[in-house]
Amino acid sequence: MITSGGDSPGMNAAVRGVVRAALGRGAEVFGFRHGWRGVISGDGFPMNSGSVSGIVDRGGTSLHTARCPEFREPKGREQAVQVLKEFEVDGLVVIGGDGSLTGARRLFEEFRFPVVGIPGSIDNDIAGTDYSIGFDTAVNTAMDAIDKIRDTAYSHDRVFVIEVMGRANGFIAVEVALASGAEAVLVPEVPFSLMDACNRLRKLRVEGKRSSLIIVAEGAARATDVADFIHRTTGFETRYLVLGHMQRGGSPTAFDRVLAVRLGAYAANRLLSGFMGEMVGVDGGKLVAHPLSYVLSTTKNIDPDRLLLVEAMTV
Ligand code: F6P
Repeated sequence: MITSGGDSPGMNAAVRGVVRAALGRGAEVFGFRHGWRGVISGDGFPMNSGSVSGIVDRGGTSLHTARCPEFREPKGREQAVQVLKEFEVDGLVVIGGDGSLTGARRLFEEFRFPVVGIPGSIDNDIAGTDYSIGFDTAVNTAMDAIDKIRDTAYSHDRVFVIEVMGRANGFIAVEVALASGAEAVLVPEVPFSLMDACNRLRKLRVEGKRSSLIIVAEGAARATDVADFIHRTTGFETRYLVLGHMQRGGSPTAFDRVLAVRLGAYAANRLLSGFMGEMVGVDGGKLVAHPLSYVLSTTKNIDPDRLLLVEAMTV
């Protein structure tokens, strides 16, 4: 098993789910540290029930993780398969986001190596599952921070522009905007007009709302540029905040822990039952599995109704 790519809260609970379910089926379990990098370098170690004691509530990943450019090259993948054979590994569980799952797909398609993926990413941009592990915690972490910002924005009659993670998509941004009662949300998938946002802020000010929150996904615009534009256009005192990697840390919510342990145990059971080249997920609360080829060639779109709802809440 590996955890790979950007860490996400709940990865540890998933690792625990994999280990305990596999041990329960009489399998031996190996963990490799630092994702694909640890597979290539042979940094693997046997895991027992005790290896995953006391980690269900811990953020980050006890297996460590890394982004691994070597694995994108055929030579790196050949080396990884060689190491997996030396360790007598019969199947691999990969916990990570789209980059890590793309690696898993290559291992399966190029070498027929048995792999099962688990979606672990705060971004929630992976098709084939309603939720990826860590999204719920990241949204709650951002919301808690923004609740504090609202206090000072209100006291000073200021506009605050808050940048959340999401390079290519606005899943976190939209969820956070709804949960925080933001006046506007900017996402990479949908064109937006900063002038429209300014006009909305002006209208709200006339109606007596003297402080406002704008949520920006990192892939849509830079918070500093948005804040600058708003200040220059409206004259309102404006500040910005980039929440950054704090969104990836912290103890997972109950939702993420339960999701992670369910997906972890399911992935181990599927692999041990001979299924491979797939990713496990949830659909309407039920456990599902889809081919990695489907998952990685399908785009998961943000819900347009949620986006409209942000605006509808500012009348
Ligand atoms: O994919 C998860 C994520 O947190 C994205 O939201 C963000 O854009 C990216 O990782 C940051 O990556 P890194 O930790 O390599 O800076």
